[in-house]
This record gives sequence, C-alpha cells and structure tokens, in this order.
Amino acid sequence: MDNIQKLLESITNEQSLIYFVLSNIRKKDKDSFHKVTIRPILLKGELVYQFTYTYEKKVTHENLNTNDMIKKVMILFEKFKQGQAYTSEADYQILISKKFKVKILKKQPTKKKENLAHNRKKNYIIPENEPNPFLIKLGVMNEKGKVLATKFDKFRQINRFLEMVADVVPNLKKKGIINIIDFGCGKSYLTFALYHYLVNILKLKVKIIGLDLKKDVINHCNKVAKDLGYDDLTFMLGDIEHFKGVDKVDMVVTLHACDTATDAALIKAIEWNSDVILSVPCCQHELLKQIHNEIMIPLEKHGIIKERMSALITDSIRANILEIMGYSTQILEFIDLEHTPKNLLIRAIRTNKISKNAIEEYKRFKAFWGVSPYFEKGLGEKLAKKLNNYC
Ligand SMILES: C[S@@+](CC[C@H](N)C(=O)[O-])C[C@H]1O[C@@H](n2cnc3c(N)ncnc32)[C@H](O)[C@@H]1O
Repeated sequence: MDNIQKLLESITNEQSLIYFVLSNIRKKDKDSFHKVTIRPILLKGELVYQFTYTYEKKVTHENLNTNDMIKKVMILFEKFKQGQAYTSEADYQILISKKFKVKILKKQPTKKKENLAHNRKKNYIIPENEPNPFLIKLGVMNEKGKVLATKFDKFRQINRFLEMVADVVPNLKKKGIINIIDFGCGKSYLTFALYHYLVNILKLKVKIIGLDLKKDVINHCNKVAKDLGYDDLTFMLGDIEHFKGVDKVDMVVTLHACDTATDAALIKAIEWNSDVILSVPCCQHELLKQIHNEIMIPLEKHGIIKERMSALITDSIRANILEIMGYSTQILEFIDLEHTPKNLLIRAIRTNKISKNAIEEYKRFKAFWGVSPYFEKGLGEKLAKKLNNYC
C-alpha cells in the first residue's frame, strides 16, 4: 500500500487533485456507505478536502486537511478495491486485489482543474453530479446526481444562497445551539439547503424552524425532514407577525415573503437581537400608495417606474432602519431567478453601533417621499426613542 500513500503525497503536494472516487467495496453492508468521493474546496480561504460518503439513502460529508485526508484514504482502502484519482497531470486507476496487492495505472488526464478561488460558480457548495438526498427528494436532481434541466435555476439559486450564508457564518455564535428561523419558507428548498450546509457540511449545531401560512406545505415539509432524518429542522404553521414560538433566534431568514411580511420578519429579528438577518423582499405594495413628491411627477406618472421606484424606496428604508437599530447592512444582488427586478438581498449583521447619520438620512428621506412605513410603526417605541434622541 506504500505506493498509494506516495501517490497521495505527490498529488496533494502538487495540489493537482481534481476528484477522487473510491468504489467497489469489499463487503456490502446496507447500513454503511458504498462509495466515497473527495474533492478539494476552499473553506474560509483554506484548502480542505471534502469527503462525500454515499449510503443507500443518504450522503454525509467530512472536511479534512491534507494530512488527515491521506490518512483517511489509506484507511478507506482497507474497505474498497478500487480508486480513481483525477488530477491535472494524469488519471490514476488504483486496483487492489483480494490479497491487498496494489496496481496503479497511469493514463492521460481527462479532467481540467478549475481555479478554486476564482471560479465559485462552477465550484458549487453543493456540487452537481453527486447524488444528494435532499435535492433528490425535492426533485432538483435525479438519483444519479444529475440536476434536472427544469430545476437548474433553482439549483443555482440554492448555491448562490449558500455562498451568502457562508459569508455570514463567522458572525454566528461559536458556542451552543444556533437557532435559526426561515419566515415564509414556502416549499423550503432553501431551508433544506441551509440545514444541509450548516449541519452536514459545516457540522454546526443548529435548530431551524420554517414558518409559513400554508398548512399543506408545512405538513409536506415536516414529512420530508423526517424522511431525510433532519431531526433539528421543524416546520410550523403560523403568521410571522404573531409568531411566539421561541424566545431567541440567532439568525432570521426571510426569502420572498410578500409585502409587509418581510417587515414583520425584520421586526421580529430586531426584537430578538438576532446576529444575522438575510432577507430577500418581494412584491412591495405598501409604499406604492403613499409615495409622492411634486418633483417626482415625471417618474410617478408611469406605473411601472413608480412600482420599481417604490420597491427600491422600501428596501432603502428597510436598510436605513436596520442601521439605526444597530445593524451593519448591505444590499446585494441575489439571483435573477424569476426574471424579475425583485432580486435584492438585504444582509444585516448586528454590530450594536448606531449611526447618527443614518437617523438624519432616514428623517430626510421619509419627509421627501411623504411616507409612513409599516416597519417604523411596527417597531414602535424601540425606533421612536432612537429617532427622538437625535432631534
Ligand atoms: C414566494 S414564497 C417564497 C418561499 C421561499 N421562501 C422561497 O424563497 O423559495 C412566499 C411564502 O411566504 C409565505 N408567507 C407570506 N406571508 C406570510 C406571513 N405573514 N406569515 C408566514 N408566511 C407568509 C407564503 O405562504 C409563501 O409560501
């Protein structure tokens, strides 16, 4: 087996590994994994090797540094008779006989190495062509891991969302269980993805609740979570505004919740002092009926322009209020999934620093457009105190 060890040391030294597959298991056991794949990924800027263990009904992941990766592969070769290492220099086929005699065949390379740091799109956090139980269950990929053509936008959206989650993970608490809520979870593709990423890939301790108004959707999602063995993912029926299920939530997610449901979710997050908020608003009607400024008549008289402007004003106000409430806030492009301009994501991280500028900006902006937003009313005294302290 020494020549396998040497090969692994050489390809990891040169960082030439693209993909590794261990197959042809010696002893079949329905409770154990029957295939292992390994690929290099960048996790928080560090090169690690992501192992994917494929069982009959699930996959699990493990991220290992180079030394541990080599040790692990050597242990795994006690179980497997075959390995295939795709590197940028060559493809290696490793064959191990019943008596553990090793043969390594070297062939021309068939795969091209991608730049891990710069080609994030292709290095999806959840890769293509690797069967993933939750994506299979939700009908995004087939049993072989192939993403269905009609679901490719959804697959991209899931991965884009996870990239955004990856960026905020350092802002989540380091000890104890991280409580997360997804308000207006709907069919919950992104909720399942979030759970998979945090629990199966990053190995964090989390409890996630998905909340929605639709009973059939909630029942279905609870069944899927149970089938997948996602024990700390629960779906609840209810209205965001009246939700009282928990005392503290560390991260609030709300994706495409309609109109002021987004504001209700942001209000809850502020009340809980949540560390992280990820929100993609949708169909803002509230301010459309209110905005008016004489100078803006050329804009207001075109329904489509007014509608878009109203959405932008609403999101600007949301970001501004979040800043006043002690959050560092950015507005980012989510994904043009539904071919709609409503694809902005508000990312807010609690810093507890209140910007006096944000208060002044908010007052002027609100007066200019003559609006009285639900978000401000919903926060009541909490926001009023801050606005009044800086008269
Ligand atoms: C467009 S879907 C988005 C689903 C999912 N978050 C996504 O992005 O794929 C919006 C969901 O929000 C839910 N919703 C709207 N208002 C809500 C409220 N006040 N409380 C709870 N759920 C709400 C709807 O029932 C619907 O399932």
